[in-house]
Amino acid sequence: MTDSSEGQIRGKFITFEGGEGSGKSTQVSRLAERLKDAGYAVVETREPGGSPKAEAIRKFILAGEAEGKGPRAEAMLFAAARMDHVDRKIRPALETGKWVVCDRFMDSTRVYQGMHVDGSTIDLLEKMAVGDCRPELTVLLDISAKEGLDRAIKRSRGARRDRFEKEDVSVHEARREAFLKLAESQPERFVVLDATKFPRALELEIWDACQKRFNLS
Ligand code: TMP
Repeated sequence: MTDSSEGQIRGKFITFEGGEGSGKSTQVSRLAERLKDAGYAVVETREPGGSPKAEAIRKFILAGEAEGKGPRAEAMLFAAARMDHVDRKIRPALETGKWVVCDRFMDSTRVYQGMHVDGSTIDLLEKMAVGDCRPELTVLLDISAKEGLDRAIKRSRGARRDRFEKEDVSVHEARREAFLKLAESQPERFVVLDATKFPRALELEIWDACQKRFNLS
C-alpha cells in the first residue's frame, strides 16, 4: 500500500501472463538477458514467490494446503505473498531505477481466483498488495489449454501436478478466455502473442514490443 515513506518509481515494470505451459519462464529469462545486454540493470522474478516469505506461501498453496479453505482464502494468500514480494523486492528495485521482469503478477489473481471471487474483493486485495507498483507492459502468451497442459506435463517429466495443473482442461480453457478478455480491456498495457510459435520467434516479437513500449533504440 502506498505510504509516505515510499519513494518514486524510476525503473520499468514488465510482467508475463498466460496459462500453464505457455513458455513464460523461458521468455522472461530471454527478455531479461536482452535488457541486460542493452545496458540496463534488471531484476528477474516470479509469482507466486520472489521473496523468501512469498516462496513459503507458494509452496503452501501449490501443495493444495489452502484448497479446502476455498478460493477467497487462496486469493488472500496470493495477495499476502504479493505484498511481501512488492515491498521487499519489486518496489526497492523500481525505486533505484532497475527494470523488473516478473513471471505472473496481479492479472493471474484476477483470472485464476477472479473466476470464483467477486470483483470488488479482487480489487481491494490488488490495491492492498500492489499499490502503485503496476506493470507498464504485460505480455500475454496465449495458447490453447490442451496444448499448454500437454507441454506442462512433458516439461515436468512425471512429477506430481500442482494444485492448479491438475484441474480439468475446461477450467484452463475458461482461464484462457478470461486472460484474453482482460487483455482486450487494457490494450495500452497488454501485448498478446501466439505462444505456439518457436521460442526464438517469440523472443524477437517480445523484444520488439518492449522496444516500442519504452522507446528503446
Ligand atoms: P507457475 O506455474 O506459473 O509458477 O504458477 C503457479 C500457479 O499458481 C499457476 O497454476 C497459476 C497460479 N496462480 C494463481 O492462481 N494466482 C496467482 O495470483 C498467481 C500469481 C498464480
